[in-house]
Amino acid sequence: MLLGVNIDHVATLRQARLGVEPDPLMAAPLAIIGGADGITVHLREDRRHINDRDLRLLREIVPIELNLEMAATAEMIAIAKKVRPEMVTLVPEKRQELTTEGGLDVKNKKKQLKTAIKKLKDAGLPVSLFINPDTGDVEISKDIGADMVEIHTGMYADEKNKRKRGKELERVYTASEHGMNIGLFVNAGHGLNYFNVKPVASIAGLRGLYIGHSIVSRAVLVGLERAVMEMKDLISEAETEYP
Ligand code: PXP
Repeated sequence: MLLGVNIDHVATLRQARLGVEPDPLMAAPLAIIGGADGITVHLREDRRHINDRDLRLLREIVPIELNLEMAATAEMIAIAKKVRPEMVTLVPEKRQELTTEGGLDVKNKKKQLKTAIKKLKDAGLPVSLFINPDTGDVEISKDIGADMVEIHTGMYADEKNKRKRGKELERVYTASEHGMNIGLFVNAGHGLNYFNVKPVASIAGLRGLYIGHSIVSRAVLVGLERAVMEMKDLISEAETEYP
């Protein structure tokens, strides 16, 4: 199972002082040395963390999967076509949110998303949709032409009540299996950390996990290379522990 490391939070720390450090350009090679299979960045409309310079230079130095998270807007589609990441993940974007809060509203934004997906795919860019763990949303994603989906694990990760957390995990399982059954590549992410990753990493057939905040947080204490390595180890363990 692939591990895509989201390095937005390195840029968030830089932006806390509007300075030059820490530089996400230095973080990417360290994550790769630690075993990351991909580097993810979210270029937000307000450029609150990753900016255009980061994306441009990351494209030059990242030799593995560069996953560009972005809103399905004309501006972002033009940037994606120019930068040419290995894949684009379309996400909903609200200005005031702390982080991406929910999956795409694929039911109500079908037309807009279908058009964006077509433009990106016509340019040769594979497209993933960040969606809630809902089989209906998985179906719609397939119908409107997505190559992949990323199942939102945030509700599972944030749920404190054990019984309810189990139910949220079931939703992640069911949506993931459905996606694989109808021929989509299925990824998962959001809110995953060193303590909750294993049940998700045990889902057979999942293509990859996309993880940011917990890895960058641990990196502050132990270094990025080690933080990535430790996450990779947990994922590998889960793949064998939960056959
Ligand atoms: N996947 C998507 C689509 C996201 O928007 C984010 C957050 O930027 C992540 C995964 C990573 O989430 P976290 O930082 O909670 O690991």
